[in-house]
Amino acid sequence: MKNDSFLEQLVSRRSVRSYTAESVEREELDAILTAGLYAPSGMGRQNTILVCVTKKETRDILSKLNAQIIGNDSDPFYGAPAVIAVLADNIAPTFVEDGALVLGNMLNEASARGLGACWIHRARQVFELPEGKQLLAQWKIPESYKGIGFCIVGHADIVKPAAARRDGRIISID
Ligand SMILES: Cc1cc2nc3c(=O)[nH]c(=O)nc-3n(C[C@H](O)[C@H](O)[C@H](O)COP(=O)(O)O)c2cc1C
Repeated sequence: MKNDSFLEQLVSRRSVRSYTAESVEREELDAILTAGLYAPSGMGRQNTILVCVTKKETRDILSKLNAQIIGNDSDPFYGAPAVIAVLADNIAPTFVEDGALVLGNMLNEASARGLGACWIHRARQVFELPEGKQLLAQWKIPESYKGIGFCIVGHADIVKPAAARRDGRIISID
């Protein structure tokens, strides 16, 4: 079935790295999380966990740990008020791919809702730090769950136009 508007949504999504101070409505976050839940997973295992953080104190701890991995004192979450940490159980051979699809779905849903979002890296290292492991214990998540990525969400302050795509990346064999 033809659905041009869906393709338009995908094509216009951009990573947002500048946010207003406005918080994200709970219903918006719930829709983004649902989009993540409905990502496909290897053998349908659904072995991913999505931790939605809106409490500033916890959001700031995650930001600090992420910056610690980078080796500076920046805010790698660019001021975004909400952060969704995606973790996947490494018992499954597809755990990285499963987590990546969850993140992709959430980025696209956020964009389709007119919100800003961006994948932020270093989740794996963050949850391997003693403070990261402490958070996992607090959230009752077993240590076999590895950090795949953070999806930051907020109201975009600056949105850039869609980036051009490099040529020659599609090979059609007729
Ligand atoms: C695996 C992965 C890790 C990423 N990590 C970061 C990151 O740590 N910080 C950041 O600002 N953007 C990060 N990004 C966003 C990319 O930089 C962004 O997708 C890319 O520049 C293309 O821009 P676009 O998303 O606007 O098309 C990451 C994206 C992916 C897929």
